[in-house]
Amino acid sequence: MARGQSLKQGEKILFGIAAVFIVFAVVGYVMLETYRVQAQKPIFEVRTHYDLSEQGLTGSELFRVSRCTACHRAMRNGTNMGLSLDGLGSKRTREWIYDFLRDPEATYGAPTVDHGYPPKEAAYVSSLPQDTLMTISIFLSELRADQGAASAPMPPEGRSEFIDNMVGVFAPEEWKQKHKDVREQAVPGHEEPAP
Ligand code: HEC
Repeated sequence: MARGQSLKQGEKILFGIAAVFIVFAVVGYVMLETYRVQAQKPIFEVRTHYDLSEQGLTGSELFRVSRCTACHRAMRNGTNMGLSLDGLGSKRTREWIYDFLRDPEATYGAPTVDHGYPPKEAAYVSSLPQDTLMTISIFLSELRADQGAASAPMPPEGRSEFIDNMVGVFAPEEWKQKHKDVREQAVPGHEEPAP
């Protein structure tokens, strides 16, 4: 070192560990990219799509300039750290989205984390001009999901042992009495037992 100071033992170990992490990350990244480029099928199947109207297109620009992408992801834009809004239009109506943007907690029916009143970080959203919020909600309602996609309200077609097991293990008994399994209607042989 410049002033004749050498690294302490602990520092050497810490730098060593950091270096090992970096090497692993780089090697892992190169391996994954090599696999991805050579793979015949895409490793992540894209199950959301969009076909934007003119207003939807304007909405997508407003979505970006209104800093929504700081916390959200939509159409390959934005951060992976927050909530992805791809496929939202298959789950929520345009009216719901608009109401949520203007009055988050009342529309959610539950306390929100970032949308809502100051000092919450996305409090600014509800005070954006109404036509901006309307155009953004048109954009978001045009983001659609295929059946069975993570953001779709309907599970994949057909019976899935995996889903049956998850419902069996995680859904509390009282849910099963209160709610109807959306898959039941579609699958013959799984009718409700007669009362
Ligand atoms: C500071 C981070 C942040 C910013 C900025 C932000 N959001 Fe959100 N957004 C969230 C979080 C977190 C949620 C989940 C609800 C909650 O707890 O606030 C959410 C939920 C939503 C939902 C509801 C999704 C659903 O179906 O539950 C919509 C729609 C939405 N945001 C749109 C927007 C738009 C449009 C903008 C920009 C004008 C924006 N958000 C900016 C963090 C943010």
